Amino acid sequence: MSSYETLEIEDRGFARIVRINRPKALNALNPTVIAELSRAVEELGQQLETGNWGVRALILTGAGDKAFVAGADIASMVDMNKDQAHEFASRGHAVGEMLANLAVPVIAAVNGFALGGGCELALACDFIIASDKARFGQPEVKLGVIPGFGGTQRMIRRVGIARALELCVTGDMIKADEALRIGLVNRVVAGEQLLDTCLAMVDGIAKMGPLAVAAAKRVIHQGAELPLAAANLLEVQTFAGLFETRDQSEGMRAFLEKRDAQFTGE
Ligand code: CAA
Repeated sequence: MSSYETLEIEDRGFARIVRINRPKALNALNPTVIAELSRAVEELGQQLETGNWGVRALILTGAGDKAFVAGADIASMVDMNKDQAHEFASRGHAVGEMLANLAVPVIAAVNGFALGGGCELALACDFIIASDKARFGQPEVKLGVIPGFGGTQRMIRRVGIARALELCVTGDMIKADEALRIGLVNRVVAGEQLLDTCLAMVDGIAKMGPLAVAAAKRVIHQGAELPLAAANLLEVQTFAGLFETRDQSEGMRAFLEKRDAQFTGE
């Protein structure tokens, strides 16, 4: 693994943990963090493409106990012109797309403030597991701008248009239990349980067929953007395609033979 200035990366069991590490700035996303996140995700993507399934999920979290990510770095943005802001937002979006396209699930372990770009980064993950101390919000309007890393669009898709409007127009922060109630997060746990909860999820995922997990993620993300008939066809084709894999044969035979499946990702 290459070295990073703003990220700490650690493999634990089947999880790759990527921790954004600028606690003094509440892990705010400056251009270096965005570039390093792209590199870290690309590195994992390349590893998976070689058929190395040693990592079965990515956990994204923030250093310290106060923030996941308190937004894009306001000090880096204050003097940007229109072209620079366009470039910055495009790079943030590229990270979100890379996370969506990764062949393994991505879990946001939200350990504190997830505001602005931090909330958007969490929204770009497949699941959000939040500490009971987490706070979510899209406060960009307080700064005279709007979300630029996918917050307006991914928020609509996650919680519906009325709640997305409320968050993006008022700039209000919501607590973890409210985020759970509106479907922004999957689960809320005590802060000290957060990482273990995520690691237990990864252990569960690691017992499944990796090609099937990748296919489920792909079909759900791609299908969500398609008309229902086309999305259903995508499901049928992908389901059928898995019958050309060794894992399908192994998984079904293992069930019938009453033993655990030994998946290899082939
Ligand atoms: N960018 C840069 N620095 C930030 C930051 C950010 N988004 N958020 C916090 N910091 C820095 C603070 O400036 C402060 O630095 P100093 O110690 O050097 O003064 C340090 O982190 C600690 O923050 P506070 O003293 O403010 O801590 P607090 O407990 O009083 O408040 C907070 C915490 C409510 C999260 C508050 O820091 C805050 O409101 N942060 C800004 C949140 C925000 O507006 N995020 C959206 C950014 S815009 C965006 O993200 C655009 C986009 O979509 C791409």
